[in-house]
Amino acid sequence: MTAEQKTVLARFLDIAGAYLEDGYRRPGEEYGFTDDGGEAPESRCADPSSGNTLPPPGDTLEGIAADIRSCRSCSLGAVRTNAVPGEGAENPLVLVIGEGPGQEEDRTGRPFVGRAGQLLDKMLAAIGLRREENCFIANVVKCRPPENRDPQATEALCCKPFLRRQIACLRPRIIFCVGKVAANLLLENDGQTAIGSLRGRFFEYPAEKPPPAAAGTEDRISGSIPVLATYHPSALLRNEDLKRPAWEDLKLLRSKLEEIKGP
Ligand code: URA
Repeated sequence: MTAEQKTVLARFLDIAGAYLEDGYRRPGEEYGFTDDGGEAPESRCADPSSGNTLPPPGDTLEGIAADIRSCRSCSLGAVRTNAVPGEGAENPLVLVIGEGPGQEEDRTGRPFVGRAGQLLDKMLAAIGLRREENCFIANVVKCRPPENRDPQATEALCCKPFLRRQIACLRPRIIFCVGKVAANLLLENDGQTAIGSLRGRFFEYPAEKPPPAAAGTEDRISGSIPVLATYHPSALLRNEDLKRPAWEDLKLLRSKLEEIKGP
């Protein structure tokens, strides 16, 4: 067990014990846990090159989803209700990548089903996209970060191989990152670059080829995939002023799709 997992468990037991005793929540104490002999999440996941390993031959979306559901590589796996692998078309024009599941997503196991998700669906519909038809919706982390905080760098790195495998299987024509967390991860930034300076132009994601035995992927493009970033729908719900630049980004996405699809 890792130190982080022990800390989560110890905090939970402290709170539960205090609650059962007298209902009073005492101030937390610092723990000095260390990792057990096994590999810590950092050594398994924090190596940025771990996200660059090739997907296993014969990889499938169902296989990836099963691996996600059984994953305990970081402490989020211990506190989630349901993992949220993602959903949508198997042969999508657009892969939408958000940040991580919220409360509703954790409860249902489905991505973007809360208020932000409803707005995301409307944004996509405005340019002729629908998650069941021509999009796949995924997240950087597949388990809910407590209190809807941002995923930590280690958590994002732990989960990154799943996203790379999904990209390799799906081979989307365009990757659409909603929010700073997804944009920074995909573009291998420091994690802190503001979305305002990443949105509004295309980048390239150097994806690997689909795994050899992935049926139906033979005619998909190989090589890099265009990436566009915009504001997260939750940010649009909080700040109306961001809706105009987000609409400009959606129009860019539509033009690129028209260009890719041809006359
Ligand atoms: N916000 C996200 O980034 N992803 C979800 O799935 C839901 C809300």
